[in-house]
Amino acid sequence: MTGLAQSLTAGELTTKLQAIWPEFIEVVISQPRRNASTSTAESLRKVTGRPVVLKDGRRIQLTLQFEKRQTHENVLPQDAPIRCLSLLQQDFEHLHLFTKQSDIAVRRQRDGSYHWRQSRPTKVGTATELQVAHNRSKKYLIPENEPCAFLTEIGVMNREGQVLAAKQNKFRQINRFLELVNDVLPHLPRDREIQVVDFGSGKSYLTFALHHLLTRIHGRRARIRGVDLKADVIQNCSRIASDLQCEGLSFHHGDIAEFKDASQVDLMVSLHACDTATDAALAQAVHWCTPVILAVPCCQHEVAANLKPDAVLDTLTEHGILKERFAALATDALRVKILEICGYQTQIVEFIDLEHTPKNLLIRAVRRTADIGTISCQELLQSYADFKRLLGIQKPALERYLSDILLKQNAEVSRE
Ligand SMILES: C[S@@+](CC[C@H](N)C(=O)[O-])C[C@H]1O[C@@H](n2cnc3c(N)ncnc32)[C@H](O)[C@@H]1O
Repeated sequence: MTGLAQSLTAGELTTKLQAIWPEFIEVVISQPRRNASTSTAESLRKVTGRPVVLKDGRRIQLTLQFEKRQTHENVLPQDAPIRCLSLLQQDFEHLHLFTKQSDIAVRRQRDGSYHWRQSRPTKVGTATELQVAHNRSKKYLIPENEPCAFLTEIGVMNREGQVLAAKQNKFRQINRFLELVNDVLPHLPRDREIQVVDFGSGKSYLTFALHHLLTRIHGRRARIRGVDLKADVIQNCSRIASDLQCEGLSFHHGDIAEFKDASQVDLMVSLHACDTATDAALAQAVHWCTPVILAVPCCQHEVAANLKPDAVLDTLTEHGILKERFAALATDALRVKILEICGYQTQIVEFIDLEHTPKNLLIRAVRRTADIGTISCQELLQSYADFKRLLGIQKPALERYLSDILLKQNAEVSRE
């Protein structure tokens, strides 16, 4: 088979492509023609195609790569050879088809015919690959290729449900966040409206996602309040919530520490609120006895600025980047310890792959239903104090915010 070459008319090429297509693994259409008669204003750089299994059945997913963006077309397998051929005829010089039996290279010739060269197969495609692709798209709580109004409004998806190339990371982050919320759903009330506060909601991608998960996916009643310092952002989010008729979702302008417009809050989220704003958010939730807290801290500067010079720690902190990362981890360790002292069971989980952001740790705290007892509380207070001593830290922000509760705990432990 190696080197089997022929010259074909467009009609002959269509027939041959259709005959070999059931063995399809992948197609790459490349080398844009000069003066290509592309139907869009932007020039098309490359097209790749792979088999996928969608809700409606098997499709060939074509990815059209333009200069600054990409789009997808999901084509019926029987229509794919004609579509690929028309892309080749309009815009490109080369088509490479990989099948289970052979690799095929097609090149346009000056006289309008096509040079066809068939060689040994270099790719292996299996039914498992198709299944994996299927599972990958099925796993997301908000699936790709299904229109979702809020994701369209905030520019993550187009109206057909396709995720824009530049927003793939954001799409994955939103879905990852929803998985983490899904995990704590059993701790939220079933018999009444769920009360949620999102502190430092910012542009509110995740606030809208949370509303979508609770109300649209799970059909629960929810009151969700986003709080942020930026008035223009709050105004914009309020407009979007109203346009999308997001019942129960509202946005409030103000400082986290000053927010008084809630008392019985079932879930407090605070994602990437800057520096000690996270501490203000955690303290509000602890004072409300909120059953579930989800917080992704960011820009933890307080401990870094106050680390004492120490012969042991200096080895770790003499490089700026190491100091910054160590201090951020130490800040979160202190926060988690305080939450435990205040009656929470805590976990730190990865929010999203490190390749997307270094601010990727999420503190998940669920309020204990039973008292931990004096001895355990004493141990927690002791290890908190020991760690602070090691760092040379006096009173970090969360300790200051929660001094009333911590003083009470200290007094109880000393009395026993
Ligand atoms: C990096 S953005 C995060 C937005 C959103 N939570 C997210 O994860 O995509 C941080 C937001 O926290 C807000 N913020 C910071 N300190 C705050 C405070 N003390 N009170 C209210 N909002 C605050 C900022 O205005 C900003 O919009």
